[in-house]
Amino acid sequence: MINLRKITEEIFPAIIKMKMPEDQHFVAPNVYSLAEAWLYPSARPFAIYNDDLLVGFIMLDWNPNKQDLGIWRLMIAVDQQGKGYGQDTIKIVIEMAKKEGKFKSLSLDYTPENKIGEHIYYKLGFRPTGEIDEGEIIMKLDIKEN
Ligand SMILES: CC(C)(COP(=O)(O)OP(=O)(O)OC[C@H]1O[C@@H](n2cnc3c(N)ncnc32)[C@H](O)[C@@H]1OP(=O)(O)O)[C@@H](O)C(=O)NCCC(=O)NCCS
Repeated sequence: MINLRKITEEIFPAIIKMKMPEDQHFVAPNVYSLAEAWLYPSARPFAIYNDDLLVGFIMLDWNPNKQDLGIWRLMIAVDQQGKGYGQDTIKIVIEMAKKEGKFKSLSLDYTPENKIGEHIYYKLGFRPTGEIDEGEIIMKLDIKEN
């Protein structure tokens, strides 16, 4: 089962080594994301595990002053893709956001070429807001009525 864990010294090297092939350059390198996590207090990076196997990396934008929880980065290791882990990870984040209580929505963005990302985001209920940020389509999922 998919679970999110804090990034420890032990798993740091494996997170850094997790790289995407040329045709999947839709996400920043994890070393860059972890540098941003040092810079921005709202960044919450996690290792994605399936049971006890490391399968990916996610970074949330968990800003206490916002009612929107951002999915800032998402990466499933190449040899672990297509097994439903990306979708299950987002479902866990949706549950985390609901449990926290203060978030009204989740948001993310993706490049239009990222057809797998597009497919799973639509499937999970995200819809475009109409905004485009540097060529990236911004999507949102409302988790509260008002
Ligand atoms: C995008 C990503 C996170 C998805 O995670 P994943 O674990 O591989 O995805 P899942 O197995 O949960 O789901 C894949 C879905 O895409 C579908 N799919 C596969 N190829 C597809 C294609 N060419 N076009 C559209 N959908 C496609 C699958 O059928 C499946 O959907 P289904 O469950 O409805 O059948 C992962 O592939 C990844 O890390 N990619 C590179 C980095 C990236 O793009 N990050 C996101 C940046 S916004």
